[in-house]
Amino acid sequence: MNSIIENMLTRRSVRKFKENQISEEDLSTILMAGSYAPSGMGMQSWKFTAIQNPQTLKKVNEAIRQALLSIPIVEETHPYVVSLIEKAQDESAEFLYHAPTYIIVSNLKDNQNSMADCALAIGNMMLAAHSLGIGSCWLNQLPGLTHLPLIRELLNDLDIPKTHDVYGSVVMGYAAEEPKPADPRKDVINIIR
Ligand SMILES: Cc1cc2nc3c(=O)[nH]c(=O)nc-3n(C[C@H](O)[C@H](O)[C@H](O)COP(=O)(O)O)c2cc1C
Repeated sequence: MNSIIENMLTRRSVRKFKENQISEEDLSTILMAGSYAPSGMGMQSWKFTAIQNPQTLKKVNEAIRQALLSIPIVEETHPYVVSLIEKAQDESAEFLYHAPTYIIVSNLKDNQNSMADCALAIGNMMLAAHSLGIGSCWLNQLPGLTHLPLIRELLNDLDIPKTHDVYGSVVMGYAAEEPKPADPRKDVINIIR
């Protein structure tokens, strides 16, 4: 098996991180790998906002917490969202797994390829990180809240264009846990010859 395939097969989501920061060089490599992902019509209309400043990470976490608290729980609210809203009641609730690096991937609101483009870019970044010994995990909270005014204010502060929504985000850092092994693969392959 070549090393690229092995890297794909051994990457696992990491949800507990050491405090030490990843190097500037590694961050640049990871972001560059994201920027080389394919994009519909080659538009590259995404933006990668990498946050390493501890105060800004706290601000993002608090904005997520406040945004969750602003959501009314009704009968139709998904149980996972209810659990997040309940978690947000705790002032010290942490939504970024205390990771030292958080990358927000935004893209045009009115481009039908935005989600696919961002997902491919994040996939590239997660694999690049893994190849450098850096753990990562996709986080869906911010993308799910992207339309709330409180989050839009945060995105403005982070220089994320007003024409953009957040389609994905990923935390990164050195793993402080052995991630759980991959689930057995489901039988989803059909080769028609
Ligand atoms: C679109 C997407 C959304 C996800 N959202 C979250 C999330 O909000 N929080 C989290 O801890 N993991 C999240 N994950 C990580 C998945 O739970 C994880 O990839 C999956 O359980 C498979 O594990 P593996 O990445 O170790 O192979 C997300 C993954 C994807 C692709």
